[in-house]
Amino acid sequence: MPLQSKIILFFFFFLSLIVFQWLFFMSHEEKILKEEMSARASVLVKTLGELSWEPLLNFQISRLEMQIDSLKQEKDVLYARVVNSNFLVLADTRRDQEGWIYSGIISMVPEIIMQNRVLVAREPIIILESIHGMAEISFSLDSMLEKVKRSRILFIAIFISELILGFAFAVFLEIQVIRPLHKIAAGVDQISADSINSSLTIPGKPSVEILKVSRAIDNMRNKLRKNQDELISKTRLATMGKIGFNLAHEIRNPLEAISGSVEILSSGIEENSKEYSYLGIIKEEIHNLNDYLTEFLDFTKAETGHRLDINPSELIGDSLLLLGPLLKKHRIDVSDNTASIENYWNVNPNQMKRVILNVLINSIEAIGSDGKIEIYTSLHDDKLELIISDSGCGIFVDNIDGVFDPYYSTKKDGSGIGLVLSRKIVEQHGGSISMTSNNSKIKYMGTSVKIKLSITGA
Ligand SMILES: Nc1ncnc2c1ncn2[C@@H]1O[C@H](COP(=O)(O)OP(=O)(O)OP(=O)(O)O)[C@@H](O)[C@H]1O
Ligand SMILES: [Mg+2]
Repeated sequence: MPLQSKIILFFFFFLSLIVFQWLFFMSHEEKILKEEMSARASVLVKTLGELSWEPLLNFQISRLEMQIDSLKQEKDVLYARVVNSNFLVLADTRRDQEGWIYSGIISMVPEIIMQNRVLVAREPIIILESIHGMAEISFSLDSMLEKVKRSRILFIAIFISELILGFAFAVFLEIQVIRPLHKIAAGVDQISADSINSSLTIPGKPSVEILKVSRAIDNMRNKLRKNQDELISKTRLATMGKIGFNLAHEIRNPLEAISGSVEILSSGIEENSKEYSYLGIIKEEIHNLNDYLTEFLDFTKAETGHRLDINPSELIGDSLLLLGPLLKKHRIDVSDNTASIENYWNVNPNQMKRVILNVLINSIEAIGSDGKIEIYTSLHDDKLELIISDSGCGIFVDNIDGVFDPYYSTKKDGSGIGLVLSRKIVEQHGGSISMTSNNSKIKYMGTSVKIKLSITGA
């Protein structure tokens, strides 16, 4: 059952409970008040009867009058009278009624009669088993009925205020809980449809709890989106690995044959000839192609191969040596602060050198010419971070998440696999690689790549 229906149902249940309580209380209160009044009337009329028999026998009218007059002070008493067995009214608080003939019958038993707003109590005056007269007192029920009326009004006022309160509470629930919940549900539906990228917004001023729920859903959506991106990326990597492996095998063999043939051809040609320089270009391109294929093959390998304990500064030194001419050509100054490292990584040196080369080449390409690369380390517990920072063009905030995606490249001739391959190698070694860029659309400030790996013996 929807929450809304439950609230309406609860509201009606609550109302009927109040009405039931009210009816019960009303009938009970009136009954109790009438019983109290009857008990009081019967005591008073009995007392009057007992006190009246003697003056009645002796016909002492003034004594009778004194007795009934004392009842005038009693609350709610309308009149009191004493009648003899000949139905003659001997004494009455309303003096003008004295001497009149009583029109009713004199019963042998006490009587309490309630009529409209009046209660009449009668007590026979019996002496030696014969009836000599009757005492009668009449009470007004006005004050009692007024009391009942007042409590009824009070109860109706309480009922109406509870009704208003209940209604206000229902409206509050509708605005603060039910509507936002519907919106959250619609938002979640939207996420499951296709717009996983748009965040969940609750219009108006939702309550703190609803905001918490919507934030939790938004966080979940973000994680879902990241997982989805990762899954897509991993699937693409897996596919790429298979294609790369097949390609490498299919292309490498004919390449070997071409390379061998070119070697044979060049041995018979004069070194300064045009043909020799063309063959040189072919050899160089075959070499490049081979490198490219090796990268693909490395990428498809699921293990790190032979590992050694090696000081990261050694890997940096070797890589900088290789890139020396390129750095010089581009007038890039390198500040290598890794010489003092005393920790070791247990890695496959060739694979890790490939990672460092990829990162350094990216920095060179980002700088273009005239710039600076800074290399330093930072030790955190059992992890050593190698940080390579450059003063290059940087990466726009919106693009930073995509740099590790396969084929993502902003370069004219870039293949977009350098960082993918690097990440795969680092992760295979149990480490992580991340990138930060301090850029904005207004100011370029360069990029930092952080390679984090456990140190040996820690
Ligand atoms: N140091 C850097 N400064 C600025 N952008 C960078 C840097 N390193 C990487 N990038 C960005 O990340 C993208 C992906 O880099 P990646 O090395 O994976 O591919 P690539 O360099 O384009 O091609 P290749 O596969 O030949 O290396 C680059 O095209 C570039 O946009
Ligand atoms: Mg690259």
